[in-house]
Amino acid sequence: MKGVVLAGGLGSRLYPLTKITNKHLLPVFDKPMIYYPIQCLVNAGITDILIVTGGNSAGDFLQLLRNGSDFGLARLSYAYQDGEGGIADALKLAEAFAEGEPICVVLGDNIIEGNIKKAVDDFKAQGDGAKILLKEVHDPERFGVAKVEDGNVREIVEKPENPETNLAVIGIYLYDAAVFEICKTLKPSHRGELEITDVNNEYVRRGNLTCEVLDGWWTDAGTFESLYRAASLVREGGANRMDLAPAAGS
Ligand code: G1P
Repeated sequence: MKGVVLAGGLGSRLYPLTKITNKHLLPVFDKPMIYYPIQCLVNAGITDILIVTGGNSAGDFLQLLRNGSDFGLARLSYAYQDGEGGIADALKLAEAFAEGEPICVVLGDNIIEGNIKKAVDDFKAQGDGAKILLKEVHDPERFGVAKVEDGNVREIVEKPENPETNLAVIGIYLYDAAVFEICKTLKPSHRGELEITDVNNEYVRRGNLTCEVLDGWWTDAGTFESLYRAASLVREGGANRMDLAPAAGS
């Protein structure tokens, strides 16, 4: 299993913090935001990772993360996203990297307390299709929202005005190699983006999307409120543990 961290986008909801840098380089308490999704993958045993980013600050990722040895990565690769086409558009850039293997995709602004190792192992046992992770939230209208019956996802609605459930689809997704063909069939949504929710609904149609509810807290960090909340949660509760190599000279 390989890992993909999506760290592009304009970060317009955090303007002007993102006027001169990429959202995923902003601090979340004591670490740059992108450290958390990388560590999330490492904690699940995934050490062959691709970072997809873009824009003027793209070079800063290379300077910050270098070859990934601080995280004990086997390999760290980079892809450059031209323009701002949405999550599923960014994911297309991972096709050559994946080489037909299953992938775990993490949105670069998603931070969790726990470990996704069980979900990753369950997906390996599943063999094909896709798996999403869900979390009960008090503000589901901000997210993709899942309708679940008898443990199976029936439909996902992206940012519904009147959510039918409080189960948010968090930004951690497990896919087989079919994901890239699906991405190529998508049409832009009303916000002009290729939506990851459309990818997941295609797996629902094919009858091979499974789901699990995440243990521990989860937050995104793409708005002022959620960025603040993310920093508080990390400060109070610690996020997925990081045993980084000590900085030179310390
Ligand atoms: C994206 C997805 C949404 C998901 C969320 C998780 O939203 O479109 O389905 O619930 O990430 O963070 P966005 O941050 O692009 O608005």
